Amino acid sequence: IPVDPFDLVIFGGTGDLARRKILPGLYRRFVAGQMPEDARIIGAARSDLADESYRADIREALVEFIGKGKLSEEQMAAFLSRLHYVAIDATGESGWKALAALMRENVVRAFYFSVAPGLFGELAERLHAHGVANSESRIVIEKPFGRDLESARELNRTLAAHFDETQIYRIDHYLGKETVQNLMAVRFGNVLFEPLWNSQYVDHIQITVAETVGVGGRGGYYDRSGAMRDMVQNHLMQLLCLIAMEPPARFEPDEVRDEKLKVIRALEPVERDDIVRGQYAAKGKIASYHADVDDDDSITESFIAMKLHVSNWRWAGTPFYVRTGKRLRARQSEIAVVFKDAPHSIFGAAAGRHRNILTIRLQPNEGMTLGVTIKEPGPGGMRLVDVPLDMSFADALGPDADEIPEAYERLVMDVMRGNQTLFMRGDEVEAAWAWTDPIIEGWERREDAPVPYEPGSSGPEESAMLLHRENRRWREIRE
Ligand code: BG6
Repeated sequence: IPVDPFDLVIFGGTGDLARRKILPGLYRRFVAGQMPEDARIIGAARSDLADESYRADIREALVEFIGKGKLSEEQMAAFLSRLHYVAIDATGESGWKALAALMRENVVRAFYFSVAPGLFGELAERLHAHGVANSESRIVIEKPFGRDLESARELNRTLAAHFDETQIYRIDHYLGKETVQNLMAVRFGNVLFEPLWNSQYVDHIQITVAETVGVGGRGGYYDRSGAMRDMVQNHLMQLLCLIAMEPPARFEPDEVRDEKLKVIRALEPVERDDIVRGQYAAKGKIASYHADVDDDDSITESFIAMKLHVSNWRWAGTPFYVRTGKRLRARQSEIAVVFKDAPHSIFGAAAGRHRNILTIRLQPNEGMTLGVTIKEPGPGGMRLVDVPLDMSFADALGPDADEIPEAYERLVMDVMRGNQTLFMRGDEVEAAWAWTDPIIEGWERREDAPVPYEPGSSGPEESAMLLHRENRRWREIRE
């Protein structure tokens, strides 16, 4: 789908996210021929820089985050020539006139708020007050979108005072991941899965987002958030929605978002016994969470495992187990749909218990595996064995697998196309907080401390118990 000419202003244009993700993503789209002829990117930040120094800085960023070998000098020069810079004070008045003067008529104007969340409201107000934004402009907001229901509502109200919902693009970068979008393709593009996708056939579903990194370097932010606010309220919630939602009638923004919202609203409050919170301890040279955030008394969780219920006709009785954490054994994000046993085994008890499991690997080694039961080859009678029907994107797509766009590439271009399908609507974010808030408030009231776990493990033992007690087990987190 072609993209109209645009002026994209990146507030925080010299910051980490802009250098690491947004501009490298835009460069890749430029190379792919998706950027219209006269599109411009305008970095805006506090420091006083000339266009040329900004271009030099972004050139370094491209080399660092894409790699010299993958860059062509010629294309890089052409891309950088589209970059401009404006020094601006987000909380004051300086720079706004210059920015307004730069804006062109008859092109899409988009403003990316890649700044501290405390500035979102002020930026929206100033864009409006200085006539920089018009009624067609789009704003792009990064997470965290509030830290509870009240602050999210407040932010939604501030944005709504200046922008219509159709102009607001709230990013959850998980929705930009190819493999996450693939969840919808798998569910609604095949006839095979959907008839079985309910509590009659699904025993339970597991969602795992495991990371090996710690929180060092961003301890200040993280310690005020924890895994629940940082990952569950947004990324895991989105994955859950895409797995659990009803088929939308069309792949259109509001149709998809209406269905996701219904899932969030159907979530039951979580029982205390159904939550395990963990915090990584020290091991050898690896610092503890406490050392990483420089607070020995912190009771913020760096791991969480929960059993959730989506209370609707489709899912009543099928638990969703979700877990995420830092400093785990491997970087592994996957969703496993564990189907029920066959209703009757004609092979007798000796054949053992066999289950179909559909595993969707989001990252790394993106792909899908369907575990099927077959006869073990050989003359030894009817012995059953589970084998994988395996598909990896790399094999299926061959050399094109390298070309899979990164989350930010897809999302930024969708902003320019005016397509909100992969962005969160205001009511969705609020519903997610409305579900999250009482859980966090309970911990805070009781001053619940997380249990320690060893770095490089699968999280605390209690997390395994959450499933063991129901005769289930987590899929292994493997290197
Ligand atoms: C971010 C979180 O939103 O997502 C980080 O703030 C987390 O704590 C990151 O590490 C994970 O993203 P990805 O794309 O690496 O899975």
